[in-house]
Amino acid sequence: MNKKRVLSCIQPTGEMHIGNYFGAVRNWAGIQDQYNCVYGVVDLHAMTMPYSSKELRQNTLNMFIDLIAAGLDPEKSIIFIQSLVPQHTELTWIFSCVTSYGELSRMIQFKDKSELLESGVKNGFISAGLFTYPVLQAADILIYKADFVPVGKDQEQHLELSRNIAVRFNNQFGNYFPEPRPLYTEVQKLMSLADPEKKMSKSMGDKHYIGLFESEESIRKKVKSAVTDIGGKAGEEMSSGVSNLFTIIKACGRLDDYESLMKDYKKGILKYKDLKEVTADGLIELTGPFRLKREELRKNGEEIKKLVIQSSDKARDFAEKTLNDVRDLTGLIRF
Ligand code: TRP
Repeated sequence: MNKKRVLSCIQPTGEMHIGNYFGAVRNWAGIQDQYNCVYGVVDLHAMTMPYSSKELRQNTLNMFIDLIAAGLDPEKSIIFIQSLVPQHTELTWIFSCVTSYGELSRMIQFKDKSELLESGVKNGFISAGLFTYPVLQAADILIYKADFVPVGKDQEQHLELSRNIAVRFNNQFGNYFPEPRPLYTEVQKLMSLADPEKKMSKSMGDKHYIGLFESEESIRKKVKSAVTDIGGKAGEEMSSGVSNLFTIIKACGRLDDYESLMKDYKKGILKYKDLKEVTADGLIELTGPFRLKREELRKNGEEIKKLVIQSSDKARDFAEKTLNDVRDLTGLIRF
């Protein structure tokens, strides 16, 4: 049977948190048998916002390790580091020539990020790289001729652009790229612990997220201080902070606890102390094995290096084949 191909990528912007895990990575791990999966750590994308060169290299390697610790299997899937597969950047140039200025200007993420930069973080410099970011993303996807891309809502517009690029390329040069489609699977979207109206992210600061590999002590502390509300009355709409903790409990697989706490909530007798305790227990139990696996991997630098080289080699072989076809189709010279 011919398995369909799935591709997705994550930026190495620091340690992985439970929002990344429940919102994406757990799902990536779960579909490795069903599809031919290719997953990438996209360090070139991370250069489009202000960053530190020292941290980028370390974060990239750490993210590679974290992905494996969280369940990606380099025997089953290709896990590549983007800058080690330079074919992506060459394809980006070629795609830039079938992408219009207008459609890039309409990208919501570009508008959001440039506003953020203009608002005073780092002298308002908006790079051309930030503008062409979605073209690089299209190259990530199409170079592996991916059929499906598991993405969140925030990436739908980028995926649609990738499809448009594929269609335009195919019209101009001959039918070559499959049109990548979104893969929707059940994921849990987590909110910030300290500001539960906003999506959990690292950029807001330490008390907003829980790292996937944090210590038990630190998990307990952060859950304890999570924002809830001043105590719900029966029949009132649940606050986003409380609802977020329920989501975490469910995501950790504690369905019985979930049901019984929910019953208490509906009766108006739920103690948030209990809700938080179950939340912390669930997270600690789930993440314990990941923490151990990461420690083991981190001790073995040589082994990791070998894995990075091997899997990026596989990615490069694949990408080079696509790129050769593209060179032929677009009229570039190849001897
Ligand atoms: N833009 C994505 C994000 O910030 C990361 C990304 C880069 C990606 N290339 C990709 C996601 C290709 C899916 C497919 O989350």
